[in-house]
Amino acid sequence: MLKIKGIDAYYGNVQALKNISLEVGPQEIVSIIGSNGAGKTTLMNCIMGILPVRKGEILYKDRDISSMKTHLIMRSGIVQIPEGREIFPNMTVLDNMEMGSYSVKRSKSEMKAKIGEMYDLFPRLRERKSQKAGSLSGGEQQMLAIVRGLMSDPELLMCDEPSLGLAPVIVDEVFDTFVRINKEKKMPIIVVEQNAYIALSISSRCYVMENGSIRISGSSDELIVSDAIIKAYLGG
Ligand SMILES: Nc1ncnc2c1ncn2[C@@H]1O[C@H](COP(=O)(O)OP(=O)(O)OP(=O)(O)O)[C@@H](O)[C@H]1O
Ligand SMILES: [Mg+2]
Repeated sequence: MLKIKGIDAYYGNVQALKNISLEVGPQEIVSIIGSNGAGKTTLMNCIMGILPVRKGEILYKDRDISSMKTHLIMRSGIVQIPEGREIFPNMTVLDNMEMGSYSVKRSKSEMKAKIGEMYDLFPRLRERKSQKAGSLSGGEQQMLAIVRGLMSDPELLMCDEPSLGLAPVIVDEVFDTFVRINKEKKMPIIVVEQNAYIALSISSRCYVMENGSIRISGSSDELIVSDAIIKAYLGG
């Protein structure tokens, strides 16, 4: 589905990504872990065409998207839920959801059905549909950011640090929902996380980034019991 081959990217003269290669199969959950400044968000931004790639290829469904404009990449079916969420704080929950749908033509009844489907993923959004998004709790804002991304019927969902700042019980709820979306919609998902444990527990494969490079990659089942990963990322 997505195949990244040896990309480099720079901020000015500073190299931020070094020869990154990565693959995401159809229906797969892939995680990317690594500490602050490893280059995880930078990689997302390259996939979305926000930061240019200087070398290498990003193939999405066998087409090179590495020099495509962001809005065309979005239209081709990749949705990024950014770190920091970026919902519209002065709009209601429902309006935020409808905004996510702007690229898809839907009749009134289709829209209603879609919104109902989203409320079923995160029922507490239904209770808060008329509330200003800015007044939601951090966890609720994250849920809203996810459903807003889903409103455009993506083919590939990328989520940047969904667990950031959330209580453990909400983190579990959000990640359970990723697993459910992946199963029910057969949607491939890339999860970028500093919470290595949760990322490894829901993904089939994982890439570990350090200093702009992929240091380790492999099946999540193997990495979660590997000494190197336990020592560096799972708190001993
Ligand atoms: N707009 C920018 N201009 C210059 N340097 C940047 C810019 N954005 C990020 N960087 C640098 O690139 C490196 C990688 O940053 P990036 O945001 O990709 O890390 P990250 O893995 O997402 O970290 P975190 O887990 O803290 O979000 C860091 O050294 C960062 O300071
Ligand atoms: Mg980041």
